[in-house]
Amino acid sequence: MNSKIAYLPGDGVGPEVLGEARRVLELCGRIYNRSFDIVEGDIGGVAIDKHDSPLPPPTVDLVKSSDAVLLGAVGGPKYDSLPGPKKPERGLLNLRELLGNYANLRPVYVYDALADSSNVRAEIVRGVDMVFVRELLGGIYFGTPRSRDDNRALDTEVYTVEEVRRVARVAFSLAQSRRGKLTSVDKANVLESSILWRQTVNAVAKEFPNVALDHLYVDNCAMQLILKPKSFDVVVTNNIFGDILSDEGGVLVGSLGMLPSAAIGGTAGLYEPIHGSAPDIAGKSIANPIGAIASVGMMFEHSFGLPEVGTRIQRAITKAIDQGYRTRDLMPQGSVNISGLTLATTRQMADVIYKFVENPDA
Ligand code: IPM
Ligand code: MG
Repeated sequence: MNSKIAYLPGDGVGPEVLGEARRVLELCGRIYNRSFDIVEGDIGGVAIDKHDSPLPPPTVDLVKSSDAVLLGAVGGPKYDSLPGPKKPERGLLNLRELLGNYANLRPVYVYDALADSSNVRAEIVRGVDMVFVRELLGGIYFGTPRSRDDNRALDTEVYTVEEVRRVARVAFSLAQSRRGKLTSVDKANVLESSILWRQTVNAVAKEFPNVALDHLYVDNCAMQLILKPKSFDVVVTNNIFGDILSDEGGVLVGSLGMLPSAAIGGTAGLYEPIHGSAPDIAGKSIANPIGAIASVGMMFEHSFGLPEVGTRIQRAITKAIDQGYRTRDLMPQGSVNISGLTLATTRQMADVIYKFVENPDA
């Protein structure tokens, strides 16, 4: 079976980490007898430089004809002063909208050997295994009216029942396939949109009697994520709360560089590490490739019906970490000389993972 994959490295560390993810993608294609037509396109700052648009027409055509999209990162200081619609970030938001991916899965999995790398105590984070389901196409990111003049600016948080219902169903189904627990996060003590959110989630719950549902206010959730992160299985929340809370996940696992994501529900899945462009370390070959490589695993699971590839990649990552390989972001307190640990460049880390994907018993 031949599948077309849009390959969008983007800005900052995007090209470095995505190059490594691509090698693992091609390797898994060979192992599992899938052939891929990987076609590169521009998005974000590089697309602005080349085409004066963060999501130019050739990229739109490319993703529309693709079965899946693999993306690096967008953004950088050079573009900070551009107006909203011309910013690199707008390219990513438009891409999500174009593909119709309303559900964003962001797993937060603490690898045992990294429990000490977190700023949160090891006994608190060891064993954390949860997934954020972030609504991706609604809320304040896209709501209108939206405006700004010199004295006043306006954004709109808006949700319809159908928008909440469809992402809630994804979250309940996922919880059903895991430990059967779903936490819905809102601010229903203050916001009308959150009252509707909570009512709708409660209504959907009737379709999933075997999932235990609870509700948390977002401020409390931010605290519980640090106090007792192991209590979470699946968390469903709106676009902006999901953006903010999932970065807290990066603290739990030791580095934002570890976290993959999948945006699903539309015409083609979109897979990207959540760490962003990290302009301060771009081009230095020190970025952590694990978030990007793990995103490839999510692609196989959600776009190609091969969850076993995701498992295989995750095991390979576990082995690399167990053997002491660490990119700089994972080194305790930024130290470089710790016995048993090897400071690895982006390529070295990816090479070790590649080896274990190729031969799990190596
Ligand atoms: C993320 C990012 C994006 C978002 C930015 C780059 C637009 O922070 O995917 O978490 O806010 O959705
Ligand atoms: Mg974010």
